[in-house]
Amino acid sequence: METTAPLLELHHVAKRFGGIQALSDIDFDVRRGEVHALVGENGAGKSTMMKILAGVIPDYEGEMVWQGRTVRLKNPRHALDLGIAMIHQELSVMPELTVAENIFLGRQPLSGGVVDWPRIFREAEAILAELGFAHVNVREPLERYPLGVHQLTEIARALTSGAELIIMDEPTSALSPMETRHLLELTRNLARAGKAVVYISHFLEEVTWVADRVTVLRDGRKIATLEAGATDKQELVRLMLGKEAAFFEESYMGGRTVVDRHAASEPVLVVEGLTRPRTFTDVRLELHPGEILGLYGLIGSGHFELGEAVYGLLKPAAGRILLEGRPVGVGPRRAIDRGVAYVPPSRRTGLFLEKPIYQNVTLPWLAQISGLVPQIPREVAVTDEVIRRVGVRPPDPLKEVVFLSGGNQQKVAIARWLVEPPKVFVVSEPTRGMDVGAKEEVMKILRELSQAGVGVLLISSEPETVLAASERILVMAKGRIVREFVGETVTKEQLLHAAAGELAEAR
Ligand SMILES: Nc1ncnc2c1ncn2[C@@H]1O[C@H](COP(=O)(O)OP(=O)(O)OP(=O)(O)O)[C@@H](O)[C@H]1O
Ligand SMILES: [Mg+2]
Repeated sequence: METTAPLLELHHVAKRFGGIQALSDIDFDVRRGEVHALVGENGAGKSTMMKILAGVIPDYEGEMVWQGRTVRLKNPRHALDLGIAMIHQELSVMPELTVAENIFLGRQPLSGGVVDWPRIFREAEAILAELGFAHVNVREPLERYPLGVHQLTEIARALTSGAELIIMDEPTSALSPMETRHLLELTRNLARAGKAVVYISHFLEEVTWVADRVTVLRDGRKIATLEAGATDKQELVRLMLGKEAAFFEESYMGGRTVVDRHAASEPVLVVEGLTRPRTFTDVRLELHPGEILGLYGLIGSGHFELGEAVYGLLKPAAGRILLEGRPVGVGPRRAIDRGVAYVPPSRRTGLFLEKPIYQNVTLPWLAQISGLVPQIPREVAVTDEVIRRVGVRPPDPLKEVVFLSGGNQQKVAIARWLVEPPKVFVVSEPTRGMDVGAKEEVMKILRELSQAGVGVLLISSEPETVLAASERILVMAKGRIVREFVGETVTKEQLLHAAAGELAEAR
């Protein structure tokens, strides 16, 4: 590094949203050639701080200095012109367009007044090769590729637009282990090439691996900036929470011993020979009342789709889904009425972001709560109770969901189903985007539900999530159940191996 002068600095930055002080008195800097990680609990202010850096939030207090000069960003375009690009928590790609179009979205180079397609394809190919993804065909629609490539497209877009500072907000939360590794290596390479990266993540192992420095936020304040090499997960968690925390991960550190205590009871859910072309094949499973059954698979293995099928969102081509011995019936409405609850893997699909929390929570229960005439005070009261149980912050039923932090939005998607305990609770990635403390809270809720007799199908591509609570674990690969773990000790490595090993054999 020829210079250690910061590329960007914040001095005394503060931001208030109505009654919430999202950030107070933040000093922060990032240098060229550095990956600077930002960690903190859900709602700590990470995304807000980065939105200020990226021009998304133009009204804030304090000062921003870019390459030694005070700047006042007006909008994201302004930030991009300076060389600051942000890759948001929720991706902004258009899957039906080609990979190349996505990379040049909104700024296609022209030649003689028409879009210069040869140049777009050429430059898109060049940048992907540089990033180590030469095998991606830039003329194909993006939707043909897995999420890792969608993520990559945004990084390529940032680089081709000349970004010097790249902000990544939870870039790996939807990636497979392989894709995550690739992204982490890519991030290091960006720093090596002289770029600056700000990296937000709840995965502290990633953070200590990829970062040069780590800044910890708590309740909108900067608690510390540390050299990554001189800290560890334990210390980061303590700084994030402000106390010694019982580690979410401790429950599976040495592997988890799975014991099936429910095999003798009548299953509440039976899936038989479930098949859907290109999705899953001949899947059978039984879920017992009070059981937490883990269903693990890499992204694309069909496990999320199986969850959709149980909830009536996906119609199987063959096979049966029986609830208490009778077919569930067609469509989510029937499923809900029969006592099936469902949390989708992406909070975007399950929530109406522009609506207040209470409308999101009461949506499945309007007939019971309101009858024909809306009973808003009752809806608000019901909502107040359940969002307090899952610890939504702020616990304000009237607040629009869009104003909540990512992890708190996810809690709303879960809270909805606590209004009337279901018989079967299908939860896909229930802790995606959550901090360690919130993850623990969610696992506690799932355990409480199971103790009350609810059968929980816990579907995830994060080994940690499945290992945190399951009493029995099934592994899916390429649409089939390839392994059952029961009455033994299971480790993260064994899960990965079962999911990936079968993939290798299937080729
Ligand atoms: N547009 C907004 N309007 C009102 N409040 C907001 C808005 N954006 C964020 N907040 C609030 O500001 C606080 C910080 O939110 P922020 O999204 O920065 O958290 P975060 O650290 O990114 O959390 P997560 O890990 O859950 O993504 C939260 O209390 C949130 O509810
Ligand atoms: Mg965030």
